[in-house]
Amino acid sequence: MPDPLAPTPSDKFAFGLWTIGHVGGDPFGGPTRPKLDPVDFVGRLGEIGGWGVSFHDDDLIPFGTPAAERDAIIARFRRALADSGVVVSMATTNLFSHAVFKDGAFTSNAPKVRRFAIQKVMRNLDLAAELGAPTYVFWGGREGVDSHAAKDPVAALDRFREALNFLCEYVRDQGYDIRFALEPKPNEPRADIFLPTIGHALSFIRTLDHPDMVGLNPEFAHETMAGLSFHHGVAQAIWEGKLFHIDLNDQNVGRYDQDLRFGSQALKDQFFLVRLLEGSGYDGPRHFDARPYRVESGEGIWDFARGCMRTYKALAERVRAFDADPAASPISARRPSGATARRRPQPFARRRSTWTPSARVP
Ligand code: GCO
Ligand code: MN
Ligand code: MN
Repeated sequence: MPDPLAPTPSDKFAFGLWTIGHVGGDPFGGPTRPKLDPVDFVGRLGEIGGWGVSFHDDDLIPFGTPAAERDAIIARFRRALADSGVVVSMATTNLFSHAVFKDGAFTSNAPKVRRFAIQKVMRNLDLAAELGAPTYVFWGGREGVDSHAAKDPVAALDRFREALNFLCEYVRDQGYDIRFALEPKPNEPRADIFLPTIGHALSFIRTLDHPDMVGLNPEFAHETMAGLSFHHGVAQAIWEGKLFHIDLNDQNVGRYDQDLRFGSQALKDQFFLVRLLEGSGYDGPRHFDARPYRVESGEGIWDFARGCMRTYKALAERVRAFDADPAASPISARRPSGATARRRPQPFARRRSTWTPSARVP
């Protein structure tokens, strides 16, 4: 009998190169395992039923790689994608590792850094379009402060908006079929990060020149760090037609960003999250931003990847049982997510956001 929990490409499970490929370093200790070759990563992911891969520019092409070498890396990666059948489901930019971004990228106080950051994104947007990524994520890891005297937060939001408006125009001018997804996070690596929660980001999007092009990539760990309900945050993003992508992992309330294996900690929250996603018509990637534990190596890191996917499917199975159980029918009958999906036949269809801004900031 086929294994009902075995992942298949139709489940749309995706992983970032930096997730399963994480080398195990943390602020207190260096790597505990070797770096994975992106080509091997994609091949192995395809073998275990993964569907999509995502990457930061620097995950694939180390910062400063000469042009000819860059072309060779891309050609090799393209072959691996073709051989494995894995698709590029999302791309993003590393605007946090290099020391030049120590005080942020789009919100840095240094104009030269802001311009460099925009150019870095443009270059990788070209690659994202070439590799067919439909979604481009913006996680503002360093866009914040450690001291409130260091940045004017109002000016910082203006700069953030200016950068995104510029980049939206770039995508439109180039004719790329790409949408942006902002990833909120309250803190870490900065004491405070701008656009800290789903709510802040949704409100910010309304002020952009092309709000229809920009949605969210919420992460379970990030809202949960702040003690907020991820389930409710995602529901609001869905309700506004703004769930463009999602980062799945697990997390304890109030801790640092743990990126635990999906479904290993907050099982009840994850259950209602899976119920929401499966009932809402969301048809984007089920993307895991989780890191194998530092003690893992070799096959252990792929067990971790399998564990994320199988747990999602196990929860989806429990959701079906829950909704079919007459004892749960008073709750199932209300199915708020299903109701939303019925009222909005294609809330997640690309380029068809049903959300319209009620107010625009000039
Ligand atoms: C984090 C973030 C990142 C982003 C990634 C994609 O807390 O480090 O979750 O992993 O998801 O940079 O933009
Ligand atoms: Mn995170
Ligand atoms: Mn993330």
